[in-house]
Amino acid sequence: MDPDRTRDYQGEDAAQYESQAAEVGWHGHEIIFGLMYEFIEPDETLLDIGIGTGLGSNLFHRAGLRISGFDNSIEMLEGCKSKGFSGEIIQHDLRDAPFPYATDSFHNILSLAVLNFFEDLAPVFREVARIIRSKGVFGFTVEGKKPGQEACYALRVNRGTNLTKGQREISMYRHSDEQIRDLLEDVGFRVLKEFEFLTDRYPEQGIEVYLKAYVARKECV
Ligand SMILES: C[S@@+](CC[C@H](N)C(=O)[O-])C[C@H]1O[C@@H](n2cnc3c(N)ncnc32)[C@H](O)[C@@H]1O
Repeated sequence: MDPDRTRDYQGEDAAQYESQAAEVGWHGHEIIFGLMYEFIEPDETLLDIGIGTGLGSNLFHRAGLRISGFDNSIEMLEGCKSKGFSGEIIQHDLRDAPFPYATDSFHNILSLAVLNFFEDLAPVFREVARIIRSKGVFGFTVEGKKPGQEACYALRVNRGTNLTKGQREISMYRHSDEQIRDLLEDVGFRVLKEFEFLTDRYPEQGIEVYLKAYVARKECV
């Protein structure tokens, strides 16, 4: 991981996050829900890593799942309060392992639009494999890395929390399909589905962000 944390993504103003998502035509939550739908059941549990305002989990909640989640941003977690999730929503940094959950805690795990802010995903995947149940389903997105693309780049953004707002650079990380499949295989997961979609355009910086959604099942006990 980048030891210089000044270019970390630092959450956003929760009140504005969901209205901005609607304005820019963000459909990531609908895409990941649609991909995972056939593998989930009402009353199952789901942990959302980097839950933010709960946008990614809300459809799962409406489908009857019991949602827990964590995020390192208190501002983003504020937005979760109105969603009525039945599980525990806590502040935790995903770089800090072990995650504060017992082994085999959850039927499903979700991480939407979060892992593209991190270079080394192995510790996260190891923790996911520990706390998810056998046959559990892990849905997540990364930014796909195509041949010739840099693995890391700086993105200038205007977003931020009330404290950090203003133009700043954040570090973004891309991961190739081979890297992700190797990481999943190392911790006993098999890919069920994958789907790449254009998420953001920054024409003035010559950047287009393509997120790739994966749905994987834990096959090994
Ligand atoms: C683009 S938002 C996505 C939020 C949510 N998953 C969704 O789909 O709407 C990224 C989220 O990752 C969280 N995040 C960033 N770095 C984190 C870290 N080190 N530990 C936990 N959460 C983090 C941010 O606070 C933010 O809520």
